[in-house]
Amino acid sequence: MTVNAVLDEPEEPSGSSSARQRDAERVVGIIRESFSKIEHNAEGLSRQFYALLFAIAPDTRDMFPANMEVQRSRLLRALVHIVQMVDRPQELTPFLRQLGRDHRKFGVVTRHYESVGTALLGALRHYAGDDWTEEVERAWADAFAIIAGAMQEGSASDDGPAWWNAEVIDHTRLDWETALIRVRPDRTIPFYTGQYVSIESPQRPRLWRYLSPANAPREDGSLDFHVRAVDGGWVSRALVGYTRLGDVWKIGSPLGNLWANPKADRDLLLVGGGTGIAPLLGVIDELSGRDTRPYVTMFFGGRKVDDLYYLNELRALAERHSWLTVVPVTEDGSAEGGEKGQLAEVVTGHGAWRDHDVLVSGSPGMIRSTVSRMLVAGTTFDQISYDSFTTD
Ligand SMILES: Cc1cc2nc3c(=O)[nH]c(=O)nc-3n(C[C@H](O)[C@H](O)[C@H](O)COP(=O)(O)OP(=O)(O)OC[C@H]3O[C@@H](n4cnc5c(N)ncnc54)[C@H](O)[C@@H]3O)c2cc1C
Ligand code: HEM
Repeated sequence: MTVNAVLDEPEEPSGSSSARQRDAERVVGIIRESFSKIEHNAEGLSRQFYALLFAIAPDTRDMFPANMEVQRSRLLRALVHIVQMVDRPQELTPFLRQLGRDHRKFGVVTRHYESVGTALLGALRHYAGDDWTEEVERAWADAFAIIAGAMQEGSASDDGPAWWNAEVIDHTRLDWETALIRVRPDRTIPFYTGQYVSIESPQRPRLWRYLSPANAPREDGSLDFHVRAVDGGWVSRALVGYTRLGDVWKIGSPLGNLWANPKADRDLLLVGGGTGIAPLLGVIDELSGRDTRPYVTMFFGGRKVDDLYYLNELRALAERHSWLTVVPVTEDGSAEGGEKGQLAEVVTGHGAWRDHDVLVSGSPGMIRSTVSRMLVAGTTFDQISYDSFTTD
């Protein structure tokens, strides 16, 4: 990921920083090895974690959904995932600060971090048995402390609202499974184009989900979301099927840093799959309001043309803006005037895009395959930007 512009770590002598890096890698090695021996027990681990947490800090119970099954342990999964990244502090720290600000919406305060740490270590210890050595415990505890510290710093540094209320003012079907939902927050949400937010709707209390505004910040503060109803999805199906005008959503603090270099004048390559195009539409929206802008090529991919739910609108945009080219990509070649193949394959078929900044947005699998193929094709890592710390 492009190094976050928000980074403000102080410079330090390279000797001490590389010693710290080696230490972090050692800690991550111990954590990964110990977790690999217990991860087959994910369900038990999760039950133990929440039982301990709710016993130590009963006031946290109301932060979580009434039915814990539907969440499949998002917090615990996220914790374990993130703890294993403490050897990448330059990328992780800005994200954790944002996550800490966002966690204010749950009513999380300092002592809750301690309770979560105790519950995490207690559950791990229970399942690790004899493998739980002093060294293993210290590795987990140190990593957790670093993470919780960064989140608390982020939380303390923000005196803005913990969340915004936003009224639904439009709900339009874009296709059978996808809806455009426009909301108007009670106060302007300070987000950068390309960021995402978590939302809670009255239909699904305490089930927060991330959505990406499909627009740049507007004068009236309104946000457009493209929501796709996924199979078996608790929240997305309710949002697409049952949202009513006048519903009031809660919206958390903005996260992410997809458009890391908005001021750069290099040409842009946008690669999006499904509703992953939403933040890319935000980028196009922002550029269309500028006097000068780079040339933009956007690849929009899906299995078949029916998956390209916003293609007509994108084509209309490309007709209006001479600086924008839109290329539909389908695996079965069913998009007229488009290209056939997997998105990553088609994009790299055009070369390494060496003189472009590249923004990639879509499902975790789509991001992984696109980024890895582009690196193989010769695109450099610092050209590519994507949100890599999402945990869905
Ligand atoms: C940064 C980011 C931005 C996003 N932006 C958008 C956006 O703009 N628009 C949009 O529509 N979506 C967006 N999403 C996805 C969105 O946040 C939700 O994940 C999505 O709507 C599904 O939520 P759900 O509650 O309907 O599904 P869930 O009930 O959470 O489940 C989703 C599906 O996955 C399966 N599943 C869930 N957890 C597991 C598990 N642990 N193991 C196996 N299967 C599992 C379920 O059975 C179901 O089929 C974004 C996600 C991220 C991370
Ligand atoms: C210390 C490090 C922590 C990390 C890294 C962390 C990370 C996360 C992440 C990434 C999510 C979103 C998961 C998703 O939706 O995909 C989440 C959800 C949540 N977190 Fe945290 N969190 C931490 C601490 C806490 C604390 C201290 C509390 C308070 C008890 C808390 C309460 C919650 C709740 C209520 C949710 C939503 C419900 C759920 O998804 O299970 N978290 N956390």
